[in-house]
Order: sequence, then C-alpha cells, then structure tokens
Amino acid sequence: MKYRTLGKTGLKVSEVGMGTWQLSGSPWGWDKPDEEESKKALYRYVELGGNFIDTAWVYGRYDEVGDPSGGTPSEEFIGEFLKESGNREKIIIASKIPGKNRKWPARYGVPISEVFPEGYIEEMVDGSLSHLGIDSIDLMQFHVWMDDFAKEEGWKNEIQRITKKGKVKFWGISINDYQPSNVLKTLDTGLISSVQFIFNIFHQKPTEKLLPYAKENNIGLICRVPLDEGGLSGRITMETRFEDGMRSKYFSEERLPEFVKRTGELKKLLGNEAKTLPELALRYLLSFDEVSTVIPGTRKIATVEANASVSDGRKLPAELMEELKKHVWERNFYVDYDPSLKESGYIEK
Ligand SMILES: NC(=O)c1ccc[n+]([C@@H]2O[C@H](COP(=O)([O-])OP(=O)(O)OC[C@H]3O[C@@H](n4cnc5c(N)ncnc54)[C@H](OP(=O)(O)O)[C@@H]3O)[C@@H](O)[C@H]2O)c1
Repeated sequence: MKYRTLGKTGLKVSEVGMGTWQLSGSPWGWDKPDEEESKKALYRYVELGGNFIDTAWVYGRYDEVGDPSGGTPSEEFIGEFLKESGNREKIIIASKIPGKNRKWPARYGVPISEVFPEGYIEEMVDGSLSHLGIDSIDLMQFHVWMDDFAKEEGWKNEIQRITKKGKVKFWGISINDYQPSNVLKTLDTGLISSVQFIFNIFHQKPTEKLLPYAKENNIGLICRVPLDEGGLSGRITMETRFEDGMRSKYFSEERLPEFVKRTGELKKLLGNEAKTLPELALRYLLSFDEVSTVIPGTRKIATVEANASVSDGRKLPAELMEELKKHVWERNFYVDYDPSLKESGYIEK
C-alpha cells in the first residue's frame, strides 16, 4: 500500500481507504450484510497497510432516515474493531455529522440554523466519540453542505472550540453529490482541511474547478463512490436487481441497458494497464496527484484485497487518461427522483 498526504492535515493516508456505509447495519449492498465477514475485511484491510476508514454518524442508523436498521451501526462496529484489535493508533478515523434536518442533499435557501445550529455540532461529535469508543476523531466531516454557510460565524467558532478541547483534530466537508464547486468559498475560510466528493470515470466534473483549487490551497481530496455505486464494479448485467431503496432506483430496469452498454465500451480498454473494470476505475482516480485517497465501499476480504492491490504507484498513461475523458456520463440521481430540486437550482452548471 502507498500513502499520500491528506492536504494540510499532514496525515499520511493510504491511497485506498475503506468506505463503510454498507459495512454493517445497513441492507445496502450486493447481498445481505454479513458482520462476521465485514469484521474479517477490516482486519485484512489493516494487515494490507490500509489506514483510512470513512464512516458517518448515520451509517446503519437508518431508523433515523426512515429505513429499517439491520444490525450494528457502522461507528459502533468500527469502535468494536478498534478495541478488540488494539489498532487505534494505526488508523485514521473519518466520520460525519448529519444535518439536523436529516436532508440529503442540503437544500438551497435553508438556513444553517436548521442544518448545523450552534451546540448541535458538539453534541454530534460527542455521540460519534462515544459510538467509536475513542477520545479524539482524526477528521470530522459535515455530511451535507451549502457554500452560503461560509458567511455564518456560529459553526466556525464552534469547530474551533471543539478542536481546542481535543475532540476533533481536523475538519472536512463531504459535499453534495454532483456539486463539486459548492464548497470553494468555505475552503477560503482556511478552517477546512479536506473535501469528500463524488469522482469517478463517469463523473469527471471535479477536474474543472475543485482539483485545481485543492492543488493550489493544499486541500486533502477524498474520492467517494469511485465505482459509481457499483456501476463500475464490472458486475452489472441486464439481470442485476437490488432490494435496497436507493440502488433499486439507481440501477432500475430501464437504466440497466445504458449501464451494460457503457461498461461494455470501457471493458474494451482493459489490458496491461488494468485487468478489471474496478481496477481501471481506481487507477483512473489515483492517476491524479491532487487525489489523497479513494474510498470504495468494501465489506468483503476479496474486494479489500483487490482494491488494495491497485495502490502500487503505477499511474495510467496519458493517452488512456485522454481516452477516458470520452466516457463521461453525468447523471443526477437526486433530481431524477425529486424534481423540486431542479427548480431550486440543484444541478451545478
Ligand atoms: N454523502 C456522503 O458523504 C457519501 C455518500 C455515499 C458514499 N459515501 C462514502 O463513500 C463510500 C463509497 O461509496 P459507495 O460504497 O456508495 O459506492 P462505491 O464505492 O462506488 O461502490 C460500492 C459497491 O462496489 C462494490 N465493490 C467494491 N469494490 C469492488 C471490487 N473490487 N470489485 C467489484 N465490486 C466492488 C461493492 O460491493 P459489495 O456490495 O459486494 O460490498 C459495493 O456494491 C461509502 O462506503 C461511504 O463511506 C459518502
């Protein structure tokens, strides 16, 4: 495993992180969650040199967002792992604070008093610390954001107070899906060290503004959904069906032919540079120097091993990177299912 610096935090993070939305407690995934396998996957990840685990207060607490919870919430599951493995010192823990109104994505025009009111941030940090069973969180991220919040003072004062108390070392923002610039004014405050955002072969928009900004200002970049929720896993066929609410829509029967066609085109590019589609997808991201780490959702030993093996320092050649530009497929999941978002100007131009 290779390591990169997470922007101005100075933390050395493994190039391949572990996304844990589906690790436990959530019916989200290719098949039903298996906590025994998930625990083994965590051990294997660390054994292979992985040191960056991304979780969130809400993962596995789906009663909170109207979806039944299936087992141990992700933060608690990771807390158990840290305790029983004695690995706390080796691992960089990143978690997230949901908006108080529990709305994803953050809505334009909704005041910060409804999303991150004063006092609420520390209350949620305390909750995450207790779930994880640790004294300090390495990176705490806002799970939704609106760049208009940059002009508010309350959150700025509160995060500085929390940092002084030692409860959080660094702060990040996990920005709204498909809005890679909806954070730039906030980054100008200097209080935020990293951005987590959707970036993959299909969604290349972050290369336009976010990557150049991050390079110039030493912001850590955490690429989420690197496999397009599984669209770039190489496993989608016309027969693919998901039971979970989100992916049954994302991979609806009407959309499958387009996924199959587009991934078929990408598979023609496989060869010496990348043997599988997920390998191509992760190598694509790690070929950008600005990227600090990629966090594929992983909960199985086999996928942990496959993903970790991509971190060998080998970048894709410039011609292949150029060719991949032709495979952009911008879509917006949220707007498709909630047309009111379109009216509120949700799609970033
Ligand atoms: N708003 C936010 O802040 C936000 C939103 C979404 C995600 N995230 C974070 O980003 C992480 C990654 O996103 P994601 O999990 O939604 O999407 P993703 O990483 O693009 O895709 C995950 C899917 O890919 C499969 N997979 C992983 N590695 C594979 C491999 N080597 N070969 C074949 N299939 C593979 C997984 O399989 P299995 O189903 O078999 O495990 C899972 O179904 C999350 O876990 C979470 O930590 C944050």
